[in-house]
Amino acid sequence: MKRIVVFTGAGISAESGIKTFRDSDGLWENYAVEDVATPQAWYKNPEMVLEFYNQRRKQIIQATPNAAHKALVELEKEFDVTIITQNIDDLHERAGSSHIVHLHGEIMKSRSTINASLIYALQSDCILIGDKCEKGSQLRPHIVWFGEAVPMMEEAISITQGADIFIIIGTSLAVYPAASLIQFTKANATTILVDPNADAQQLPDYFTVVAQNATEGVPLIVNKILKAYV
Ligand code: APR
Repeated sequence: MKRIVVFTGAGISAESGIKTFRDSDGLWENYAVEDVATPQAWYKNPEMVLEFYNQRRKQIIQATPNAAHKALVELEKEFDVTIITQNIDDLHERAGSSHIVHLHGEIMKSRSTINASLIYALQSDCILIGDKCEKGSQLRPHIVWFGEAVPMMEEAISITQGADIFIIIGTSLAVYPAASLIQFTKANATTILVDPNADAQQLPDYFTVVAQNATEGVPLIVNKILKAYV
């Protein structure tokens, strides 16, 4: 079975109503990264950090998977598919994809501040000061903040190296190490980008570019791939 690896960013969830980070009116235009998404912010003002992610979580719970998330599930009928996502939302899961690696964490989970391996599925839509892990330490969002290591990166590299088809959807490729994944594709892999601002990416010219929104471009390429390889 051929292997497809799909590398997604905020753009795939944009049409589900979840703001991207760097487009105009993106999240980082309205919040300072260093105030809400760094270990320093957590030490300085944990209430503010928790509130920021509590708001994000409420929006994500309201959102639903769109045609792009759903089209990727279709690929599983004929291919071995892994999704490597930078997104903290759970829309790939709710669409029905089976193998998902979250590079930047998951907003629907919390994590101990004393032992990073203690990770919990949230039972409510918020984490509050005073919510503790089984060791008695404060819980934080299970999110990779700026300045923190990306524990899933090694696994993501090895998955990317095995891809026969590598598809990038809706990411500015501005954040490392995630963006460096594109360097690990096999020389003979088919490589595709779906992003309405594809020009900005400056990808190597062996990428096939589909300069469309995810809900149009992803069903299109999924159909093409299914026709070409099945
Ligand atoms: N369909 C597809 N792509 C879209 C759409 C859409 N409807 N709308 C916007 N995009 C594209 C933009 O053109 C851009 O290339 O989505 C991308 C969004 O880029 P960013 O906002 O930078 O999001 P992302 O690349 O996922 O950010 C990476 O940055 O702040 C961190 O941790 C956060 O995981 C995130 C990381």
